[in-house]
Amino acid sequence: MDRFLIRGGRALSGDVKVSGAKNAALPILAAALMVPGKVRFENLPHLNDVTTMLQLLGRMGVEVLLDDTGSVELDASSLNSVIAPYDLVRTMRASIVVLGPLLARAHQAEVSLPGGCAIGARPVNLHVKALERLGVEFEVADGYIKGRAPGGLVGGKVLFEKITVTGTENVLMAAVLAKGESVIENAAREPEVTNLADCLVALGAKIDGIGTDTLRIEGVDALRSGRHRIIPDRIEAGTFLVAAAATAGSCTLIEVEPKHMDATLLKLEEAGARIERSGTTVSLDMRGKRAKAVDITTLEYPGFATDMQAQFVALNSVAEGSGRVTETIFENRMMHIAEMQRMGAEIDLYGSTASTVGVNHLKGAPVMSTDLRASASLVIAGLVAEGQTIVDRVYHIDRGYERIEEKLRRLGADIERVRL
Ligand code: UD1
Repeated sequence: MDRFLIRGGRALSGDVKVSGAKNAALPILAAALMVPGKVRFENLPHLNDVTTMLQLLGRMGVEVLLDDTGSVELDASSLNSVIAPYDLVRTMRASIVVLGPLLARAHQAEVSLPGGCAIGARPVNLHVKALERLGVEFEVADGYIKGRAPGGLVGGKVLFEKITVTGTENVLMAAVLAKGESVIENAAREPEVTNLADCLVALGAKIDGIGTDTLRIEGVDALRSGRHRIIPDRIEAGTFLVAAAATAGSCTLIEVEPKHMDATLLKLEEAGARIERSGTTVSLDMRGKRAKAVDITTLEYPGFATDMQAQFVALNSVAEGSGRVTETIFENRMMHIAEMQRMGAEIDLYGSTASTVGVNHLKGAPVMSTDLRASASLVIAGLVAEGQTIVDRVYHIDRGYERIEEKLRRLGADIERVRL
């Protein structure tokens, strides 16, 4: 099992090229299941979750051809299975995004109940309820969700009682090949959902209201071959900015979409960073100053992303003054707190609110990653700590960050991967 060895205390500075967005790549790859021909996706990140998704598609009979320019060609001309098995799904909860495409294309699907991030109960009841509105019948048996629509999917009206990102993506993909019109209300507006919708349109789907909370879909008989580019990863980008801010350093992100990062950039400005946006770059400069603590409440897009919450707790823990970070999207997404406390952070956790009083220095310690974003926050904590930090269970971070240690080293961090 890999771990990171970090010797903290260096101010970061330099450029980082941001990779394609994991959360856009996963549903877009799954959409290939719906096309009886070749599709090409560009700007695919090299991540464990992406590899898992490609393996999953491979098991279903999709031909996968990766090239070294970061593009992938997929051919789902013939599918030989509609089963997403436990051994793959358990490593990646987002495997559930194959449910909608399989039902759309094959009118049946069996997806193992998911595993993945250990951040509270992450149910799929809203996916199931919404797909039932399009004519799918479900049963849960042998640990699998089994869906069937023998006569094919029919358009319907779906109103999500709670906003769900992958739920919206599943229903959107199913509706694209359903007979007649579908309307999805209270749809997630995350840029990754929009990127998927744009991809589906490039493949022949008819969707109105893209980027809003009401999606109108006119079902088509089939999708066709085409190509699409995956958007930059706003969470990876934000993580590097917070790392630079926490070390009182500077950083320029290359190949980002600044407008997707507004909530993060506003908070960094509040923390005292000078931010410059131009075209597809964003620069942050702390001008050598310590950050000021900020208050944050996570929300659905365009609100502050839950996936950036842990990183800001790390920033607050060494910032000037006190800050409050409240998690509203997931239960039990504060597992980084106990680890940061072991590094000397002054954090009180009441319910889902982490109140910090910034300390001058954290102290290096062995810490344990528990989920993807928590592990990113522990790396940030290690970068600002005095002495050596060992971050264990790095496989969590490899699910969502492409060679994070190499990118951090380019910014001047003292971090290495140790293989045990
Ligand atoms: C996606 C992202 C994840 C991000 C999250 C919220 C991907 C692959 N993952 O996860 O990085 O943190 O959005 O922005 O895109 N819920 C239910 N029932 C359901 C579905 C969801 O109760 O059927 C609840 C969840 O427990 C959670 C909330 O709804 O409390 C939002 O979850 P959701 O938006 O579905 O998260 P994911 O799509 O799993």
